[in-house]
Amino acid sequence: MKYGSIFAFLLIAVCSAAAQGPKQNAPLAQTPPMGWNSWNHFRRNVTQADVRAAADELVSSGMRDAGYVYVNIDGSWQGERDANGVLHPNSKFPDMKGLADYIHSKGLKFGIYSGPGPLTCGGDVASLGHEQQDAAMFASWGADFLKYDLCSYGKVMLESAPNDMHKQNEMMRQAYEKMHQALLKTGRPILYSLCQYGRDYVWKWGAQAGGNMWRTTHDIADDYLSYSDIGFSQAGLSKYASPGHWNDPDMLEVGNGGMTADEYRQQMSLWSILAAPLIAGNDLTKMTDVTKSILMNREVIAVDQDPLGKQGDRVWAQGQLEFWSKPLKDGSIAVALFNRLKNPIRMTFHLSDIGWTGPVEARDLWKHEDVGTIQDAYSAAVPGRGVVMLLLKRP
Ligand code: GLA
Repeated sequence: MKYGSIFAFLLIAVCSAAAQGPKQNAPLAQTPPMGWNSWNHFRRNVTQADVRAAADELVSSGMRDAGYVYVNIDGSWQGERDANGVLHPNSKFPDMKGLADYIHSKGLKFGIYSGPGPLTCGGDVASLGHEQQDAAMFASWGADFLKYDLCSYGKVMLESAPNDMHKQNEMMRQAYEKMHQALLKTGRPILYSLCQYGRDYVWKWGAQAGGNMWRTTHDIADDYLSYSDIGFSQAGLSKYASPGHWNDPDMLEVGNGGMTADEYRQQMSLWSILAAPLIAGNDLTKMTDVTKSILMNREVIAVDQDPLGKQGDRVWAQGQLEFWSKPLKDGSIAVALFNRLKNPIRMTFHLSDIGWTGPVEARDLWKHEDVGTIQDAYSAAVPGRGVVMLLLKRP
């Protein structure tokens, strides 16, 4: 072969490999997934234009560059399934492929939603009996993420095996595994997000069913009691998370208006300590500067996204006051002082609470300032339903 033809041959080989896209076994979700989802704000009213606008805002606000890359449509995109079994988007989504292409053109990733039952939670058509066909269609659109929501499959399980919880749970695991296999068969790397509200200790088997993340709880709402009940109940789950496999205490409510800035700072801090997926759920076209400063606190995001991939956990609690910590790759540790009371209170954290001794250098991740050397204890006024978050480094 002449050099010219060798070059042409190599070029064709490289191009056709690239056209096949990244390999299926490319590791997904090596750090907790970050992005935006339509549900918390738009609910069932979401339209193609809303999702496009969210993609635009992710870029113009700087959120994409801070790590929020998934643009996920939740429920209410589905229309009818035709005689050939093809599921069509409803009239609110006239051009799903065009939408996905637009999202990709902005350097973002596209996420879609379905479930193993006949219907989704909102009563739309879901994937039962059409798993491979739907997975192939999602892949053909260019989906990078699938949230798969149990919903009506719970009823299928109950009717198939009344009074036999073991059998029901077995059916549930198989249903999740079925879609996992269908996704693998598409050859496209699609992040798989299990949503079944933590049933049957999903953190113990979610990774085996192919899950890159799994909801550990019921749905979050934009109010303090809902958020804090879910968030602080995550204590003890840290050992089930690792790169590629994350506990998901549901999406962020930051910016949705039902909580104070201190309460939202608390959610952002707790989610980062938990190495939770950071999926914003607000209307990105109407963000205040405070909302932006919370969602884009890069020092807090860095705790969530730390490459060690260790979820943090509670180290101390007394009544409504809690300390949580998370080990980081460079040997430092993030510590959060949470006040769940309505009123501000002075909290004193001792290095011995995390088994450390001084001196250590401390930085306040919300004030964005170094707070000096801690020898033994650190005392701070913590706002009502607020947080003080520190990064501690040995000198
Ligand atoms: C369930 C899920 C939510 C959301 C809704 C949509 O309740 O847990 O996150 O997807 O369905 O109907």
